[in-house]
Amino acid sequence: MNFYAHITGWGMSVPDKVLTNDDLAELVDTNDEWIQSRTGIRERRIATDEQSTATLATDAAIHALDKAKISPSDVDLIIVATSSPDNIFPATASIVQDSIGAVKAGAFDISAACTGFILALNMAAQAIHTGSISTALVIGSETLSRFLDWTDRSTCIIFGDGAGAFVLQASEEPGGVLSAVMRSDGSGADLLGLSAGGSYYPASEPTIHEGKHFLFMNGKEVFRFATRVMAGATKDVLDQADISLEELDWIIPHQANRRIIETAARRLKFPIEQVVINLDRYGNTSTASIPLATVEAAQEGKLKPGDKIVFVGFGAGLSWGSLAVQWTGPLPEERRKVWPYRLLGLYRFYVRLRSLLLRWIRFWEGLIWGRPPRQ
Ligand code: UT7
Repeated sequence: MNFYAHITGWGMSVPDKVLTNDDLAELVDTNDEWIQSRTGIRERRIATDEQSTATLATDAAIHALDKAKISPSDVDLIIVATSSPDNIFPATASIVQDSIGAVKAGAFDISAACTGFILALNMAAQAIHTGSISTALVIGSETLSRFLDWTDRSTCIIFGDGAGAFVLQASEEPGGVLSAVMRSDGSGADLLGLSAGGSYYPASEPTIHEGKHFLFMNGKEVFRFATRVMAGATKDVLDQADISLEELDWIIPHQANRRIIETAARRLKFPIEQVVINLDRYGNTSTASIPLATVEAAQEGKLKPGDKIVFVGFGAGLSWGSLAVQWTGPLPEERRKVWPYRLLGLYRFYVRLRSLLLRWIRFWEGLIWGRPPRQ
């Protein structure tokens, strides 16, 4: 049997704290006019000390489940795409799994920088196509503000924090995720990244003094690469899905720079009014940028069931990719299990209690049975 992976829920979460271009001009030698004309960004959101990639992802996930009207216990798989995970390991997805009480879900992270959300969507869709799972939560979440050098005007003006999530559900009705393109060129690994804290440059005093724990970027080269690949990846994914550019309703690109997006649209001869852009308010939120733009477009009523959409992204790696989708929206009422969101507060209390109980049981088991004998 053929299963199709439909997007049936979506949600987002951004920190309340807004950092405007004028605020940045007080930190580094820049100004609103330069940032707006070179990037299109007016402001971005910055996580508070209490927020992390996992907490933003959790909030976005809860909104997405709410939209799809399904319970966390229906979720089979959680994938978090992120470049700023809470830890090197465990996966941020596991923290989200515990926080939302997705008791039967597997969970893992994808690291492919800003392209990560497209790869994560494709992995979840493929698992649904094969019948291996029926419901997935795919999340892009970032707190890149924690990795920025706030004295470097070439990077700190670009990035922002936030999270967006999709629920994917299996259905026999054709639609949902139609095709995907995934590409990489590791010869450009030195153009954008964060080198310290991994196994090649473990955290040490010199790595801290040399600022290797900060994001680095060769903006000009990344710009050239991005404008080269965006149009090609869009055409390739449409060819795979057998959709013509004329039939396409929306392009939802990675929100890195308005000039990159406009160049790609011009190359494709695709109307810019049908390209979703919200980077003016959030900056570049890496893996979260495509779902954030999608959620806002859906909330504004732009996306209609049946619309054909291409998501297209690029980023460190170098990596790039695209995904063609037929928009679905929540499944009809009679086909979904209604999740009583009125009980959300109670449910979150239960989830926290469950997590504490599991830790408590593990603690007492350790005391009673002691450590396992060494082999
Ligand atoms: O998710 C993928 C992430 N990355 C990207 O998509 C980045 C792609 N690249 C870009 O968006 C652009 O390259 C930037 C916005 C980063 C930079 O724009 P640009 O037009 O390539 O500027 P530039 O680096 O060539 O710099 C031009 C001038 C330089 O001054 P001089 O040497 O001409 O005197 C810079 O020092 O602008 C200066 N400059 C700034 N001035 C004011 C660089 N950053 C700033 C700044 N404010 N923030």
